[in-house]
Amino acid sequence: MVNVLITGGAGFIGSNLALFLKGCGYNVICVDNLSRSLEHNVRRLSLNGIPLHLADVRDYDKILDIVRGCNIVVHAAALIDVEESLRNSVSYFENNVVGTAVVAKACVDLGVERLVYLSSAAVYGDPIKVPIDENHPTNPLSPYGLSKLLGENIIEFYSKIYGLKYIILRLFNVFGPGQAFTGYAGVITKFVNLVKGGQRPIIFGDGLQTRDFIHVLDVCNAVEASFKTKHFNEKFNIGSGNEVKIIDLAKMIMSLANFAGEPSFAPERAGDVRFSCADISKAKRLLNFCPKLSLEEGLKTVLYCLEKY
Ligand SMILES: NC(=O)c1ccc[n+]([C@@H]2O[C@H](COP(=O)([O-])OP(=O)(O)OC[C@H]3O[C@@H](n4cnc5c(N)ncnc54)[C@H](O)[C@@H]3O)[C@@H](O)[C@H]2O)c1
Repeated sequence: MVNVLITGGAGFIGSNLALFLKGCGYNVICVDNLSRSLEHNVRRLSLNGIPLHLADVRDYDKILDIVRGCNIVVHAAALIDVEESLRNSVSYFENNVVGTAVVAKACVDLGVERLVYLSSAAVYGDPIKVPIDENHPTNPLSPYGLSKLLGENIIEFYSKIYGLKYIILRLFNVFGPGQAFTGYAGVITKFVNLVKGGQRPIIFGDGLQTRDFIHVLDVCNAVEASFKTKHFNEKFNIGSGNEVKIIDLAKMIMSLANFAGEPSFAPERAGDVRFSCADISKAKRLLNFCPKLSLEEGLKTVLYCLEKY
């Protein structure tokens, strides 16, 4: 039995991943400090018999105890709100950078076979070309993006000095059931909740900015593929490979929900990148990654989700 620890396991991606991996036959445990988790996700872990340790990833002694016996660690714990990070940069560096150093050090000290780090497209900043491949220069525009990049640097450093084996997954905009409403990462969840409540989606800026949306189940597939690939110590973009305008996204959600009218507009937000789309050819080639859900199919899993988040 392969033992997998997921940090941030009570979060959106972490909890979906925990259930997915359990379904694939892995022995899964989670750790989370519950600072940003939804009660619903915590309950789902418990209902599925997945142990959740309450600890902060910055607490080395506790993390060492929890990592002991694990073959693979997926590091998903982080603060993820771009806008908040611009207001409160230090807490992002403390949480995301120190947290990653602690998790990576525990993996080194206990000889964990592989560390999978959930990084972000935010490391690229405003791209000089789309689609973005992994060799695109990094130029984060927010403390959040910088904290994720510094996390990558730390993991690569531990690999170079101590031989840590890692995979870095640079996730684009992930969506699916179990996502909180706040933060830019949750734009789909926010639009869906507004529309379901009879309100128009609010677009920041002109709506012509683009994003690459990837369903959380496709992310789960990518994470599992990264356990098995012989191409470790690599970075991979994980997205759909499709560039979607925010205005088109809003209209698609309104149409799927049979909501008449037009979206409303608010001023552009600082720190938001203009265009984003992943070149996923490396992940296709070396991870056999192939996104399965179309945007429309994925949106339906959020729109018609019977569970309340
Ligand atoms: N959601 C996206 O679109 C997206 C895109 C790119 C990258 N990512 C990355 O994926 C990972 C998971 O994101 P998510 O969307 O599930 O976010 P989330 O906020 O739903 O989950 C993060 C979890 O980490 C926990 N956490 C935060 N700080 C912690 C700490 N110090 N100790 C222990 N637990 C802590 C929170 O309580 C939360 O449950 C993050 O690392 C994020 O940077 C997410």
